[in-house]
Amino acid sequence: MWGNHDGENEGVAGATIGVVSERNEVPGFRDLYENAPCGYHSVAPDGTILQMNRTELRWLGFSRRELVGARRFVSTLSPRCSRRYLRAFDTLCDGADRVGVQAELVRKDGTVFPASMAIAAVRDRDGSFVATQATVIDLSERRRAEVEARRLAARLRTMTRRIVDAQECERRRLSAELHDRIGQDLAAANLDLHLIKDVLAGSLPALDAARLDDAIARIEATAECVRDVAGALRPPVLDAYGLAVSLRTCAEQFAQRTGIRIVVDAHSGSGHGDPRTETALFRVCQEALTNVLRHSGAHVVRIGLQRTDVEVRLSIADDGCGFDAGVAGVAEYEGLGILGMRERMLAVGGELIVESSRGAGTRIVARAAAH
Ligand SMILES: Nc1ncnc2c1ncn2[C@@H]1O[C@H](COP(=O)(O)OP(=O)(O)OP(=O)(O)O)[C@@H](O)[C@H]1O
Ligand SMILES: [Mg+2]
Repeated sequence: MWGNHDGENEGVAGATIGVVSERNEVPGFRDLYENAPCGYHSVAPDGTILQMNRTELRWLGFSRRELVGARRFVSTLSPRCSRRYLRAFDTLCDGADRVGVQAELVRKDGTVFPASMAIAAVRDRDGSFVATQATVIDLSERRRAEVEARRLAARLRTMTRRIVDAQECERRRLSAELHDRIGQDLAAANLDLHLIKDVLAGSLPALDAARLDDAIARIEATAECVRDVAGALRPPVLDAYGLAVSLRTCAEQFAQRTGIRIVVDAHSGSGHGDPRTETALFRVCQEALTNVLRHSGAHVVRIGLQRTDVEVRLSIADDGCGFDAGVAGVAEYEGLGILGMRERMLAVGGELIVESSRGAGTRIVARAAAH
């Protein structure tokens, strides 16, 4: 056993940690014990503190004399964790070699800090329990970091939600602008050109008549393009007819454009849900289909939409090449596509699950609470 070389009366104020001794030597075992960046103590079978290193005394704010041989260790614990500690202590007395305890230690000034303790039993040759040896880690910093991480995650979620809302709002505005202004102007110009063509029928040289036809065709193609872009920005059917119809429309357009077969199992009767959730699910479908086209080489895609009293669940499954989505469904590489889908679902209190492995296709599942 180590003796109290520091002297019975030594206070802990001014104790230094991790120093080279005054004679400029590398710290020996004793320095290591006293000044280690974790607490060490040992406790007798009746609970009295037998030893405590300087670090732990300093954390607790007591002098050695005030604790060692004078108090039971349990008196340095908050009431709500002392029972847990005593239970762990009993298991050591009853034969366990080692226990772990999450504890709250109470400083001399009454303030509390969280700590993690690993406690081992010391036994004599006959196996009788003679003391504990405990390592104590101060968790204050870690707890602070956890609280901060939770705060930042909540903030990030709020910001993501705002960004997604702002993006939807902007898309809606642009879509309306394209449809109501540019679309209307193109329609009016198209009408005028048709009128001119009718009025001038037969009197125009062949070359000019061909130019006029060309202009009409170009205006019609542009009007259709504007309609498509406006529809992709904010599908009018989503607001008017809900998610099931929008998914079917989106799937039909995708199949026409790409030649990939799509089977949709989404009943219109499944009704309207919360508009923000519906929009998030629709965007997930759009992004998942973009990925199917870009990465999968799939022949068939199945889209399923199920709505129960508690949740709405959208799945997009393809029979393509798949990729390594990892055990937790988080691939080593995730671009903005999957990240965006995840964030959109988180922003409406839902979740995104990615199931994929090489050669076995990909299934994206987006779930949210039914409102
Ligand atoms: N349906 C799929 N089939 C095969 N691989 C896929 C599929 N979906 C995603 N992947 C793989 O996952 C990766 C990440 O997809 P993600 O959409 O996040 O990014 P990206 O498509 O590469 O880029 P972007 O940020 O433009 O979306 C892809 O690069 C691809 O390797
Ligand atoms: Mg993508």
